[in-house]
Amino acid sequence: MAFFDNDLDFNIEKEGRAEALAKVTGRGKYSAEYKTENVTYAVIVGSTVASGKITGIDTADAMLADGVLDILTHNNKPVVAGLASEEKIKESKIGLPVLHTDTIYFKGQPVAVVIAKTLEEAQYAASLVKTSYQQTKANVDFKNSHPSIPLKNDGKERGNVDNWKSSAYNVDQEYHIEGEVHHPMEMHATIAIWNGDEKLKLYDKNQGVNGVQNTVGKLFGLQPKNIEVITEFMGGGFGSGLRVWPNTILAIMAAKKINKPVKLMLTRTQMSCLVGYRPESWQKIKLGADASGKFTGLLHDSKNTTSLYENFLENITRISRLAYGFENLKTQMATVPLNMSTPTWMRGPGECTGAFALESAIDELCFKMNKDPLAIRLQNLSDVKDPETGKDWSTNYIRECMEKGASKIGWNQRNQQPRQKKEGNWLIGYGMGVGMWTAGRGKASAGLEMDVNGNVIVKTAMTDIGTGTGTSMRNIVHENTGIPLSKIKIDLGKSTLPEAPSQGGSRGLSSISASSNAIAETLKSELIKYAEKINPDFKNIKPSDVILSESDIKIKNKTASVSFQKIFSDNNLTVIEVEETTEPGADQKKYAFASGAAHFCRVKVNELTGKVKIDRFVSVVDGGKIVSEKPAKNQIIGAVVGGTGMALMEEMTIDKRLGALVAEDLAGYHFSVNADVPIIEVDFINKPDFNLNASGAKGLGEVGIIGSAAAIANAIFNATGKRFRNLPITPDKILKG
Ligand code: MOS
Repeated sequence: MAFFDNDLDFNIEKEGRAEALAKVTGRGKYSAEYKTENVTYAVIVGSTVASGKITGIDTADAMLADGVLDILTHNNKPVVAGLASEEKIKESKIGLPVLHTDTIYFKGQPVAVVIAKTLEEAQYAASLVKTSYQQTKANVDFKNSHPSIPLKNDGKERGNVDNWKSSAYNVDQEYHIEGEVHHPMEMHATIAIWNGDEKLKLYDKNQGVNGVQNTVGKLFGLQPKNIEVITEFMGGGFGSGLRVWPNTILAIMAAKKINKPVKLMLTRTQMSCLVGYRPESWQKIKLGADASGKFTGLLHDSKNTTSLYENFLENITRISRLAYGFENLKTQMATVPLNMSTPTWMRGPGECTGAFALESAIDELCFKMNKDPLAIRLQNLSDVKDPETGKDWSTNYIRECMEKGASKIGWNQRNQQPRQKKEGNWLIGYGMGVGMWTAGRGKASAGLEMDVNGNVIVKTAMTDIGTGTGTSMRNIVHENTGIPLSKIKIDLGKSTLPEAPSQGGSRGLSSISASSNAIAETLKSELIKYAEKINPDFKNIKPSDVILSESDIKIKNKTASVSFQKIFSDNNLTVIEVEETTEPGADQKKYAFASGAAHFCRVKVNELTGKVKIDRFVSVVDGGKIVSEKPAKNQIIGAVVGGTGMALMEEMTIDKRLGALVAEDLAGYHFSVNADVPIIEVDFINKPDFNLNASGAKGLGEVGIIGSAAAIANAIFNATGKRFRNLPITPDKILKG
């Protein structure tokens, strides 16, 4: 079943998703859903301790259970070339030497994999595996561990870094955010199928099939081209799909060992520790302003959790170098190694965390100055030049975002003093936060084929992680050719298709849109070449002067046309194929690029229960040209929902004695559901940035979450007069003040 199903009859308007019908009818296949002949099932047995050594694994009982085919442990696994030695492990950049060590780094670390004929048999047998450990003391206590870890200078200092201190106004505060677990709707899963010793096929949940090809190739000593990776549909990707995790490696190892296809899907509980998470973090902000409200200096320090086997630095302070023109600035960062698995990128990684502290501190400073935080932000923006590089911003409409958002939410209704508005037991307050994210693009390829009936298939290896990539490619080809939307189908998420980068860092559409434009232009050029042999009117005609229909090519504003029928039969064609690769040019070095967002909200806080109700949320975003409005809005809505979770409920609760996660399922891990969020009002500036790419799209994935949690915390202050610097702000904290 293809991304855009050929045998379903589509007639969806421009803003409808290309894959909508395939998804809602259940015909689109997610990684674990592909029917695979002779498939067997693998289940991971996780360590029950958080630190120590494995002293023994007894698999005798488990091996006797019905249906069991084999059990892999570090003692009997097929050795993976890339995990064979310390050196190889470093090179492979995998981090955890899964099943290639007897050391336990975190609770839940895979220690065995049971393979059976059915899933149920594998699950039962997994419960019979007995592992013994020599346990050592585990440290999962971030709060008590970070003070002893020294900070390291990060990036260039600007001006006099102590300037903030002697300013008319200053703020010196610490911030703490709990870790957040990755829980996309679809759990990570792999089906691994070996074809001999050299060829491998993977159905795998990830955000970039070519990336998986390369990583797995290095790890298993295979040619990347001999590894086929398929990720046609994805039930959410927020950064956890940007790496190769143990489920993929173990499925491949298991399939090798038993010489049969193996399916391995993580459980919800395993998702909590095997696919990364947003690390717990500490920040310190020292911020000053002069009597006029101009920022005089900033010191921004951060620390985040990492594992004992790998260093993951979240770049939390990066945001402080982006939005405002701090002439005096110093940022420092550090990581805190704990008995936890390695964290990873999660929606707006770094910036989202950093913006909470920075935007909270700005709000606090404005309160001290008795000035409007909107006006102070506008006064201090650096929206002409990138304050870090000094380059001109190619486009930067953050000011417009702020002005538009303020007007939409009715910022003039906000009282400068807190606790001024009340309805019954509900205190009402307004808050805002600003986010920015560096925009960029990578080398990406797209292909197109067209048949005589004007049926077009647009192709790329890029995975659509739910963002609407396929829909946007379809829309770009439609807009640039005239071919009706109903005739354009999409094929993506396969490594056999034209190579593309992973979809991450808000660089999906900004990369592939340029290639989509290019294939549309090339198709028109090809057709002009054929047409001019048939009708001389087409001589010296440019691609921009023609328009295609489902049956012919025409010159705009003229009657001249040539039918596809004629072109195909005269030239004995069955299909016309084009492929284009685009990449950033030297031109892009001239400018700085970023997307921006201004978030505004109104909250109601119940004085008796501590409940926070987000009453309204307005986000105005500068993401360059908006290629497909509905998916773009969905992107921002989803990001803001993530921000509400960060602000009010998400918390990776850990039992410090056991080193164990407490909330390991969706019942225990609280995140925002429909009842927790209002209708999120999204608006776009929608001005293209043609220095970035031909479509003018800058990227939307991250920026929608950055600054959103601060907007909520600032609104809570405005409502209650209580300042919360630790997230999540749960009702007990509100009541305690
Ligand atoms: Mo995102 S954190 O780039 O998937």
